[in-house]
Amino acid sequence: MIIKTYPPSQDLADNAHANKATYDQMYAASVSDPDTFWGHQAQRLDWIKPFSRVKNTSFAPRAVNIEWFGDGTLNVAANCIDRHLVDKADQTAIIWVPDDPGADAQHITYRDLFENVGRMSNVLKGLGVKRGDRVILYMPMVPEAAYAMLACARIGAIHSVVFAGFSPDSLGARVNGSGAKLVVTTDYAPRGGRKTPLKSNADAALLHCDDDVKMLVVKRTGDQISWLEGRDYDYNALAASASPYCTPAEMGAEDPLFILYTSGSTGQPKGVVHTTGGYLTYAAMTHEYTFDYKPGEVYWCTADVGWVTGHSYLVYGPLANGATTLMFEGIPTYPDAGRSWQIVQDHKVSIYYTAPTAIRALMAHGDGPVQGYDLSSLRILGTVGEPINPEAWNWFNETIGKGNCPIVDTWWQTETGGHLITPLPGATPTKPGSATLPFFGVQPVILDPTSGAEQTDVAAEGVLCIKDSWPGQMRTIWGDHARFEKTYFSDYKGYYFTGDGCRRDEDGYYWITGRVDDVINVSGHRMGTAEVESALVAHPAVAETAVVGYPHAIKGQGIYAYVTLMNGEEPSDDLRKDLIKWVRAEIGPIATPDLIQWAPGLPKTRSGKIMRRILRKIAENDFGSLGDTSTLADPSVVEDLIENRMNRG
Ligand code: WTA
Repeated sequence: MIIKTYPPSQDLADNAHANKATYDQMYAASVSDPDTFWGHQAQRLDWIKPFSRVKNTSFAPRAVNIEWFGDGTLNVAANCIDRHLVDKADQTAIIWVPDDPGADAQHITYRDLFENVGRMSNVLKGLGVKRGDRVILYMPMVPEAAYAMLACARIGAIHSVVFAGFSPDSLGARVNGSGAKLVVTTDYAPRGGRKTPLKSNADAALLHCDDDVKMLVVKRTGDQISWLEGRDYDYNALAASASPYCTPAEMGAEDPLFILYTSGSTGQPKGVVHTTGGYLTYAAMTHEYTFDYKPGEVYWCTADVGWVTGHSYLVYGPLANGATTLMFEGIPTYPDAGRSWQIVQDHKVSIYYTAPTAIRALMAHGDGPVQGYDLSSLRILGTVGEPINPEAWNWFNETIGKGNCPIVDTWWQTETGGHLITPLPGATPTKPGSATLPFFGVQPVILDPTSGAEQTDVAAEGVLCIKDSWPGQMRTIWGDHARFEKTYFSDYKGYYFTGDGCRRDEDGYYWITGRVDDVINVSGHRMGTAEVESALVAHPAVAETAVVGYPHAIKGQGIYAYVTLMNGEEPSDDLRKDLIKWVRAEIGPIATPDLIQWAPGLPKTRSGKIMRRILRKIAENDFGSLGDTSTLADPSVVEDLIENRMNRG
């Protein structure tokens, strides 16, 4: 198959932050002398006390240690706000577009941001939040979510944002896991014309938490909520009398900035820890180079603050660069599928960063909803979260970008803090579906999955690992450094293991082929199949279950659950509905199983291990190639599963 490549325009090559020659030269410098390279890059931040060391990292077995700019001190909020006041006080920092298409957008200037974050900081302090304390932010896409993140950073508290689509149970588990003393939330969360009762979810979550956990409630809709005197605090009332001035705390470069829970292949979600100096250096640099951000441009990242993309590329990266970042509360299909293009037109968006699943969902509405909108402000398009299929890439390129906007397909993870493999608009010819080449300082390697041997040929396929540290790398799993080492550094010793499979073509371009572990990617949301399984088996009718992903036209992957019922339980449509409701309540709507197959038995080895490979194939409707089933304890269960498979598409 001939793959078309799309080189940067001459204009971009001439005017972008990096062209091919700059990329080659900077990349070589970044890997040959990381101390000099990153020591220089870190000067993009304001340091309170300069660092004397740059890189101090080891991936060695049982001695994994990652430290960047170790003895420097700085404050993230001061870097994202205060230092811009000199020349950008009146520039818009955040354009907030509410869900209701009839409501006006808010333009929050850097001065407004300074004052609002100052007030939030003082409110948090007033509630007893101190340096190092954990604060859970159960927040929808409202400006106060950004204020709260930055306020925590300002006073040295560690935030952990929990996606507002998660259930009370998931929220409670994260409050307990992080040992948080405060939950910040809103009364309700409007989205797509509907309202999620966040405060009441948080009430339910706190039933399972320590009595001394407090709640700070931001008014969004003003609708009625219940109130527990002595535990609940009214943000708007407290902020009204709070001072807008709060001195930023002097934080060590390696002090934690935030914890973000993410799914893995086993067990419950783990708390990924990012720290201060390296994270912000990396988020800021990648934001500037990957999107070729230029002062004055309006930049829109559609990710929710509940995910890492919302951290690095909605809040921290853009604000560190003094950018104007657009935050949208709603969904792209409300009130109709033209909403995104209306926003691009109204706010003259230059850079638009979204997920392939959103592109596919919009593409399904055809070109009609795009027509009539002026998209000429667009200059750069970006995607993240999953591999992008050529149809979606072409539609994005032609219908949205009019063939004039490079598409940066950014591969990275919650763990990596920022982009690791990505094109740079003025430097990298793109190929639809490839994340292309490594960012500065990143050394990807492809290992043979079985032997672990590094594949030295340019064209190669295997598991994707990274050879050495970069400043944005996660430092540990909250409270469990041993799990950190085991998860990322034990299968392939001396390397960071990404969990992704990958192919490298003859031009050295990287093509991510998807997860090689039991993590699935549903609508760009990362989900551990083990989590869905543990939710399902908690249902009284369920004896056993296995959950796998299967290809889904819009979501990328759908959730396919094989369920074995308890003796005496009868399969029925009502029970199926009940199980779906149950999982939504245990985890949240994003974990809703798409297909549930009643399985009288699951294929197991004689030692009792479920053969997930077979279950994946059947879920993919690819049962002609099941491979060797002779080692199964009872090969006949496979016949039944094939016979009654749910995905015949
Ligand atoms: C997948 C999201 C292909 C990958 C920032 C990774 C991608 C997981 C891409 C991380 C991409 C992310 N192409 N696959 N451009 N970007 N992925 O932690 O499997 O939510 O390991 O971080 O998403 O998901 P996470």
